[in-house]
Amino acid sequence: MTAAARIQPLRARRSGPLVGRVTAPGDKSISHRSLILGLLAVGETRVRGLLMAEDVLNTAAACRALGAAVEISAAGEARVQGRGIGGLVEPEDVLDFGNSGTGARLMMGVLASHPLLAVATGDASLRRRPMGRVARPLESMGAELRLRAGDRLPGAIRGTGEALPIRYRLPVPSAQVKSAILLAGLNARGETTVIEPEPTRDHSERMLRHFGATVRVEDTAEGRVVTLVGQPELEGRSIDVPADPSSAAFALVAAAIVPGSRVTVAGVGLNPLRTGLLATLEEMGCDLSYGQRREVGGEPVAELTVRHGRLKGTIVPPERAPSMIDEYPILAVAAACAEGKTEMRGLAELRVKESDRLGAVAQGLAACGVKVEEGKDSLVIHGQGKPPAGGASIAARLDHRIAMSFLVLGLASRDPVAIDDIASIATSFPDFVALMRGLGADLAAP
Ligand code: S3P
Repeated sequence: MTAAARIQPLRARRSGPLVGRVTAPGDKSISHRSLILGLLAVGETRVRGLLMAEDVLNTAAACRALGAAVEISAAGEARVQGRGIGGLVEPEDVLDFGNSGTGARLMMGVLASHPLLAVATGDASLRRRPMGRVARPLESMGAELRLRAGDRLPGAIRGTGEALPIRYRLPVPSAQVKSAILLAGLNARGETTVIEPEPTRDHSERMLRHFGATVRVEDTAEGRVVTLVGQPELEGRSIDVPADPSSAAFALVAAAIVPGSRVTVAGVGLNPLRTGLLATLEEMGCDLSYGQRREVGGEPVAELTVRHGRLKGTIVPPERAPSMIDEYPILAVAAACAEGKTEMRGLAELRVKESDRLGAVAQGLAACGVKVEEGKDSLVIHGQGKPPAGGASIAARLDHRIAMSFLVLGLASRDPVAIDDIASIATSFPDFVALMRGLGADLAAP
């Protein structure tokens, strides 16, 4: 997001039944990776269904700055003429990743194993987020990184043309860190291995293979061990991007909590490492059904339908966290409308997302009259089985998922919920307001 973006307040009011069939926007994780692997491939990569949102467009701009030709149509068809591994050019200016941790961290991996100097920055949210988690392993591969105090951006990376392959055990469950190391490993001689004690989304592994790399995955006592054979020749490919389950989640939960609703979301990616929210909603008694199962771009997809019904509280196991890490804010909204207590633990990573999501959710729900217990890495929500009071104004904190989650809450609350600024929604889901209004949501300027 640019600093000059206009402030856009919005309020959500208790709505009649939400009804309809919609398609969620393209998957953000897969969209970033399509462009980045397109940059590193030789020849043309064609992407259909690219997420047309600020985060992804910033990654496209970074790919151009590194020498790729990237053309994107308004409908989300992209063509990337890649430079090939080792063939990147030094960017002439600072790379601005806006709000996107994925764009910044994955690109830091790419830059680390190319002999060039690059400076990376982002918006106020991204400049607060920890980058040491990618800097440390990339330094051990031979890159030099200079970051601001607290390992924050802006930062400079001097990559190396002779990167060393490493074997690295992830200290935090993070697909971004795993992916940064694998991307750096593409231009290292030999095998780069990442060990993840808790499995995280595996889009990088799947897509690296699709582009022609050799990636081995083993489940061992240490965890999931991912090994990439360095210096492959990646070839431009075609990619169909499925709809993003993390974006679909907002319409699905809205249908679950607004009386009389029935909403279908088409073509949703159901990568097994991303389906924690759906499992949790089912445990809460959500009326969720699957249709039209098929494969899109090497990922399982289905059409999901949710009907409104009574939800009950549940205990979300901490080991499920990586498979629903972006969905806790919207799950918390469902829990606030459910009957009984919902316990969520193992949420330390939520503190370092686009905002401190644990704090934002706890404070926002409390302001809407919901009883919440916030722990260091846990959240317990006491649902009353009836609409929350609402009637609060919520600070979005430059966090798209906080803005969308509290708008959804407002659709089921007694009194309206206002968001101070929804501009951040454009980072991942620019059509959110139009899509929700199309289903019947009462969203308007306050
Ligand atoms: C992502 C990984 C996750 C997730 C983010 C997208 C990715 O971040 O929260 O929205 O595309 O690799 P972490 O790696 O920080 O868990």
